Amino acid sequence: MKSIASAPGKIILFGEHFVVYGIKAILCSIDKRITATSQFLDEKIIRVRSSLGDSVMDLNSLNNLENVPQKFMKPFFYIAQKAIEENSTKQGIEIVLESEIPTGVGLGSSSAACVAATASVNGLFVRLTKDEIVKKAIEAERTIFEQNSGADSSVSTFGGLMLYDLKNGFQNISSRNDLNFIIANSAQVHDTQDVVRQVRNFKEKNEDIFRKLCEQEVEIVNNATIALKKNDLNQLGSLMLKNYELLKQIGISTEKIDLLVREAKKTSYGAKITGAGGGGCIISLVDNSNMKNTLDSLRKLSDCFLAKIDYKGLLYS
Ligand code: PMV
Repeated sequence: MKSIASAPGKIILFGEHFVVYGIKAILCSIDKRITATSQFLDEKIIRVRSSLGDSVMDLNSLNNLENVPQKFMKPFFYIAQKAIEENSTKQGIEIVLESEIPTGVGLGSSSAACVAATASVNGLFVRLTKDEIVKKAIEAERTIFEQNSGADSSVSTFGGLMLYDLKNGFQNISSRNDLNFIIANSAQVHDTQDVVRQVRNFKEKNEDIFRKLCEQEVEIVNNATIALKKNDLNQLGSLMLKNYELLKQIGISTEKIDLLVREAKKTSYGAKITGAGGGGCIISLVDNSNMKNTLDSLRKLSDCFLAKIDYKGLLYS
């Protein structure tokens, strides 16, 4: 018996970094997924297979997850170990991960993998609710990223557009915008925790400037919420460019990112960094009138692809 589940990646439309200091951010899941396929094994092992490599652990050595050979694999062994414990089985489990989401560039691949793997592994025993899955997936991801806010896992599980802030958690944005983005990958891999630390340094050295930037971000996010309700692409694009300027000021852009945004700006509604920056991806808002031109020019500079908002979230197949 195979248990198969898939979960989408995400982009941050507005508010990255400032969200760490209590400002609201707007996120959405995208129509690029990770699929996890789990099955029982006769051997007493957990095996995780993905395009990034394969890893195996003996059921007896699972008590110490520090022994997991590749750190990024830890959440999947944790998910399997928990399911084995909770369901008192003596069988081994194999998890195969297949991804349409580039890794390490801020598109939520790690959270999507945790959500898909949680649903798929537990689905060998019982189908959990989305609320149960998101809780377990966040717990698993915290084995490698302790400070993880849970934002990515939530948007991946439930799908759609969301407002998120530290105090109030999530609010679903009810408008079902059919937005089209071009995601261009700078191919500069970033470490989110390093970039967050770098921004903290900037803030500590420039408290007044940072406070003003936060005020501007609040206004951008408020206006973006209204623009989403009206589906006003011109306004959304210009707010993305404003948000990009703020992100530049806190020092998380790179020459490659600047080049991509400059190019995207010529033909699209607007563009900005999505996620931590220091490399990673930019998003550019387009529709049928400017999609081809923008794609053609960005393709000359980077790997890029089209993405739409995903409203399905976690799916079983
Ligand atoms: O690299 P990403 O897409 O996971 O972006 C992280 C977003 C930050 O605001 C920079 C950090 C955070 O925990 O919210």
